[in-house]
Amino acid sequence: MALMRKSKQLKWVRKHLLGLRDLSADEISFILDTAEGFEQVSTRSVKKAPPLRGKVVVNLFFEDSTRTRNSFALAASRLSADIIEFTKKSSSVSKGETLLDTARNLEALGIDILVVRHGAGGAARFLSRNINVCVVNAGDGFCEHPTQGLLDVYTIRKIKGSLEGLKIAIVGDIAHSRVARSDMWAMTKLGAEVIFVGPPTLMPGHVNRLPVRVSYSLDDIIEEVDVINMLRIQFERLGGNPFPSIREYSHYFGLTVERMKRTKRDILVMHPGPINRGLEIESEVADGPRSVILEQVTNGLAVRMAVLFLVNQAAAQGD
Ligand code: CP
Repeated sequence: MALMRKSKQLKWVRKHLLGLRDLSADEISFILDTAEGFEQVSTRSVKKAPPLRGKVVVNLFFEDSTRTRNSFALAASRLSADIIEFTKKSSSVSKGETLLDTARNLEALGIDILVVRHGAGGAARFLSRNINVCVVNAGDGFCEHPTQGLLDVYTIRKIKGSLEGLKIAIVGDIAHSRVARSDMWAMTKLGAEVIFVGPPTLMPGHVNRLPVRVSYSLDDIIEEVDVINMLRIQFERLGGNPFPSIREYSHYFGLTVERMKRTKRDILVMHPGPINRGLEIESEVADGPRSVILEQVTNGLAVRMAVLFLVNQAAAQGD
């Protein structure tokens, strides 16, 4: 398997993947290169590779998920691992068991990798400091969603060749978006300029300290960007009303067929999902020729295979 395209010299040593802020550009490229090598596993008649044979991966999800949970489950299966699906509702968390006790009990069963999604920022990092198995962050509060950031830059690199010099708009509910943060770290480390676009009420308070340009008008930047990543309005996380009405939000910040007429011809339209059709993006655009939304999902599989493979390898080297 041709696992290493560009970053041959790097030795992967991290047994946890907690956030992309922690990683260097070389480490990010190394994961992407490793993912490239795993892509062809999914095209074989027998879609399996042996690296995690005998290992156990647990999907420990305290929030709902379609893409991330199933993608990790399939990635673990493609690498021949056993997978345990933990759901909060049917677990002893409903009887008051803490996050750490839950993780320690799973660890006591002899698991190897814990994939964690939690509503509290820092949950994955907290577990990584208190248990011995590998921890992979599958989304923590508003903080980070590193595998989403990785699959986003993987998708852009695959189509555009490189992120160096690209202008990338991330539009919408930045304040509540862990995807925006992981994307920002990955994209800027790989040489892109990132523009956060949205109403002031949906910008993080510390946005001026982040390595991004800020625009409060989608129309002001629509013509200059190479990639536009539309974020979901996270209604479940909104405290009050950050905009007067959904109609007004769509009018100013929705990616419409009309706005697409003003973009570069080769623009990439992205969305991490799930989509609020007709709110942040019109269906004709989400399903249109410039959309790579489903390619993002497909690429997530190879990226998550790479992440599971690398953290397991680092843990084995540390034994
Ligand atoms: N993009 C993403 O995290 O989607 P899910 O919530 O369905 O996992």
